[in-house]
Amino acid sequence: MKTSVLRVDPLQPETAPIMRAAELIRRGEVVAFPTETVYGLGADATSASAVDKVYQAKGRPSDNPLIVHIASFQQLRSVVRNPPERVRELAAYYWPGPLTLIFEKSASISDAATAGLGSVAVRMPAHPVALELIRRSGRPIAAPSANLSGRPSPTLPEHVLADMEGRIPLLLDGGPATYGVESTVLDMTADPPMILRPGPVTAEDLAPLVDGVAFGGGTEGQPRAPGMKYTHYAPKAPLLLVVGGANSVADKMLPVARLKVSGGATVGLLCTDETLERFPPDIPAVSLGSRFAPYGMAKNLYASLRKLDEMGVGSIVAEGFTGDGIYATIMNRLRKAASEIIEDGAADEVRQLTESVRRHP
Ligand code: TXA
Ligand code: MG
Repeated sequence: MKTSVLRVDPLQPETAPIMRAAELIRRGEVVAFPTETVYGLGADATSASAVDKVYQAKGRPSDNPLIVHIASFQQLRSVVRNPPERVRELAAYYWPGPLTLIFEKSASISDAATAGLGSVAVRMPAHPVALELIRRSGRPIAAPSANLSGRPSPTLPEHVLADMEGRIPLLLDGGPATYGVESTVLDMTADPPMILRPGPVTAEDLAPLVDGVAFGGGTEGQPRAPGMKYTHYAPKAPLLLVVGGANSVADKMLPVARLKVSGGATVGLLCTDETLERFPPDIPAVSLGSRFAPYGMAKNLYASLRKLDEMGVGSIVAEGFTGDGIYATIMNRLRKAASEIIEDGAADEVRQLTESVRRHP
C-alpha cells in the first residue's frame, strides 16, 4: 500500500485534503491525522472492520481499547450512555483539549474499539484539522497514537511515516504536535474520578473541578487502563534514569556516564539546556530544552527518545525531574522507558550507580 501525505496548515485548514481523509474514514479505511497531543491513527469507531485495521496497522494487542474522538457535545450523546451530570462543567472547561474522559459506552460504538469493555474513553481534540476531519466524516473516530506498538508516540509527521509508511493509505501532515505527550485519561465511572494516565491536564488542574480526584494506576495485575499493563516504549539501549534537582543531577549523571564509557560502552545522554554544558563534548547528548520550560521539554520528549535510538548508543543515561504538574507527566513517560531508576536522595544512591554500571557497562 502506498501512503499519501497531504499537508494541511492548521491555521488555515484547506478542505480538499480533509475531505479526502473523511472519505477514507467513511469507507472504513485508516487515516493518520494531527492532534494537539500526538498524531492519531483514526478509523470509524462504529465499524468493527475499520477498527480492526487500526489494531493491525499498529500491531497492537486487541484487548487494549482505543480513545473515541468527537467534535461536538451533541456527538457525545451518541457515543456515551448516561453521561453523569458532574461532567458538564469539566467538559465545558477542558474540551476541546487534551483530556480524555471514560464513560459508560453506548451501543453505537463498536466493541472492537473498546476491546469489549462496557466503558468508552472519549476526547474532543483541540486541533482544527482533527475537528474538521471528525465533522466531515460524520463519524466518531477511534484513534490510538499513530506509532507502531512499543515505539514512542509520534509528535512529528516524520515519526508517523517512519512507523506507518506502506501500512496506511493517508497521512494528514499538520506539522508538529503542540503538547507532545498523550492526553490525560480520567475515569469518570469511578467515584471519586480517577486519573489513569497523567497528561497535559494535571492533577493540580483538575482538583478544583473534580472533588477528590486521585491518581490511580490500578494495582499490579489489575490495571485500570488496559494499556498500562503493556510495556510502553522501551528504547533499544537500557535507559538509566537519574532523578535530581537542577544543581545536583549532572553531578550524579557524569560519573556514571564516565564509568560506562571507560567500560567500553557508547553512552548517550538525555539532558537539559542547563546541564548540557556540564557534560564533556565527547559524550553525545540530546537536550530536552530548558528545565524551566517544562511544556517545551514535554513537546521534545518523544522526538529526543527517537533520536537516541537512531544514534545507536549502547546505553542511555537520562536526567529525571522532581516536581508535580507537567513535570510529573514527563516523569511518568520517562519511568516507563527506563530499565533502572535512581531516585533523588536515595540513601544508597552511590551504591546503586556503581551497581548499574556493573550490570550495563
Ligand atoms: O492524546 C491522546 O490521547 C492520543 C491522541 C491520538 O488522541 N491517543 C492515545 O491513544 O494516546 P492510545 O490508544 O495510545 O492510549 C489510550 C489509553 C490506553 O492506555 C488505553 O488502555 C486507555 O487509554 N483506555 C482506552 N479506553 C479505555 C477504557 N474504556 N477504560 C480504561 N482505559 C481505557
Ligand atoms: Mg499509544
